[in-house]
Amino acid sequence: MSKLKIQYTCTECGSHSNKWQGQCVGCQAWNTLVETIPEDTTSKTARFASLAPRSDIQALSSIQAEEQPRFGTCISEFDRVLGGGLVPGMVVLLGGDPGIGKSTLLLQSLGLQCKQQKVLYVSGEESAGQIALRAQRLGMENSPMPVLTEIQLEIIIDVVQKHQPAVVVIDSIQTLYTAQQNSAPGSVSQVRECAAQLTRVAKANGVAMILVGHVTKEGTLAGPRVLEHIVDTVLYFEGDSHSSFRLVRAIKNRFGAVNELGVFGMTDRGLKGVSNPSALFLSQHGQPVAGSCIMVTQEGTRPLLVEVQALVDTSHVPTSRRLTVGLEQNRLAMLLAVLHRHAGLAFFDQDVFVNAVGGVRITEPAADLAIVLAMVSSLKNRPLPKGLVAFGEIGLSGEVRPAPRGQERLKEAAKLGFSTAIIPAANAPKQAIEGLTIIPVERIEAALHALRSAFVS
Ligand code: TYD
Ligand code: MG
Repeated sequence: MSKLKIQYTCTECGSHSNKWQGQCVGCQAWNTLVETIPEDTTSKTARFASLAPRSDIQALSSIQAEEQPRFGTCISEFDRVLGGGLVPGMVVLLGGDPGIGKSTLLLQSLGLQCKQQKVLYVSGEESAGQIALRAQRLGMENSPMPVLTEIQLEIIIDVVQKHQPAVVVIDSIQTLYTAQQNSAPGSVSQVRECAAQLTRVAKANGVAMILVGHVTKEGTLAGPRVLEHIVDTVLYFEGDSHSSFRLVRAIKNRFGAVNELGVFGMTDRGLKGVSNPSALFLSQHGQPVAGSCIMVTQEGTRPLLVEVQALVDTSHVPTSRRLTVGLEQNRLAMLLAVLHRHAGLAFFDQDVFVNAVGGVRITEPAADLAIVLAMVSSLKNRPLPKGLVAFGEIGLSGEVRPAPRGQERLKEAAKLGFSTAIIPAANAPKQAIEGLTIIPVERIEAALHALRSAFVS
């Protein structure tokens, strides 16, 4: 018997190499090569030829814009991240840590949808009995929802083509395998091939397909990067495993806006949408405490109030520590440098820890001002005044730059009873907002000056 040929494939870009190397020659990523079995290329042309119908060149003006009819998922927070619901032929990739609630959310959604349209739940991870047990917990044990426990792609495609459901959930893409490839399920080539085939079936039959994807320990979707390019929409489940709140964020959406956020609470009877989450990420302090500042962040179309906490403490190690949870680590180093240079506050002998409360992740630079105020408050060990909110980006030269949708953020803060807002001058509203005193600042020094006169002593 001839020896089985082995090659190495990059999990990031999918390029091949005959020997193992630390760095991929294709994309220069480190430690991404995994052992694979070369695929059978003889039938490739025939397979790919069927992927798309032939088309001729057309003038853009002569092409009819297709207005896609949408249908809901019966869960309003899920509809919101999808940009208003599912579209026939749409392929959605839902990623997230194990146990965060991907299967729960999709089972709940299909359970509600099956009353209105044909659906199919394909599970390669759990047995039918396990799914029934979960359904019992969710109070849907009498649901007529069709379930298929299968991992072979060809059988799944066959069932989909025969039953023509409007929505199919594949839980998960890493468990599927196609007979056209001889590598193991979950390997790069299997995942890529299965996703490509399913996409083709979704487009050809007008089926909305939701693929569940595993996440690696680095927090990105397992499998080749191309997976994210193949699908129309990429959603990520986020959240702290210790808190009951779960966020679903749109990273890419060909049918709607990105950065839209769906907020859920995990209960003992499944996920429940939180339609008004603005005050969710505030911790309840009776009295103001040092090192805490409330910021208004904007997630998609919704403003959200989040508490930023900082702890600045004398360091007893040669290199003082800078740690962030839910915020950007590199930005923290930058803000500390700006504070030193433009406000004369030195942190070099201090450990600095910054945390966004409630497991929320804030990537927008408008968090800068709140982080700075929280750090200064902790350094001086003096609480910020009660009812204060702040937002604004800080530049390297110490200027405070405007944040998008400033008005909406301020209105939300006023609605929740906040009384003072330190904000970028360019965001200052033309008309006064009832109950809210605005302190517009142009530079970081001005923000700290405003703080000094307002510190609770
Ligand atoms: P699950 O949906 O299986 O996660 P994933 O598919 O993303 O791996 O996650 C379920 C988790 O949520 C599990 O730890 C148990 C918990 N859970 C509840 O708290 N309440 C419920 O009603 C259900 C069904 C699960
Ligand atoms: Mg699952």
